[in-house]
Amino acid sequence: MRMHIHQYEKLWLGLSLLLIVGFVATVTYGAVGTPAISMIGDDGDTLNPNAIDDHPEFGDPGVEKVGESEYAAYVVARQFMFQPDPIVVPANTTVTFYVTSADVIHGFSVVGTNANTMVIPGEVAELTVEINDPGEYGIVCHEYCGNGHHGMEGLLKVVPADEYDGGDAE
Ligand code: CUA
Repeated sequence: MRMHIHQYEKLWLGLSLLLIVGFVATVTYGAVGTPAISMIGDDGDTLNPNAIDDHPEFGDPGVEKVGESEYAAYVVARQFMFQPDPIVVPANTTVTFYVTSADVIHGFSVVGTNANTMVIPGEVAELTVEINDPGEYGIVCHEYCGNGHHGMEGLLKVVPADEYDGGDAE
């Protein structure tokens, strides 16, 4: 009889271990599978939050044309602003935002859309957004980042394609 109990205990112990392994696998998979935030170190580059101003893209953040109707927008969040401000992009395009922080954790949220991400120093958050009609969209920080947090905002300005003169088009 004691022997049997022992076997059951072993069985339960084994099952619990399997569950734990399963959880760990799920968590790991979840972390790897998260598309919104990627380390810039992935491609061998490194990003030092203290040397943002020397970075080739983030040192002078702005919008670049990268395809037929595709743009890349490099954005730096820092206490308590977004750079550039405003971020100007042409209408009817796909814009990938690369957002990093020069100091603490911030948020990057385009008001009225579901485009939002956390911005972590040392990492680059990547966010691809379909840009349709011209208009102005507020950008707010949605992570508490200090005493100026509530006033930390930027502007995304979507202009008609023929009025757009920014970006490294050629
Ligand atoms: Cu930046 Cu809150």
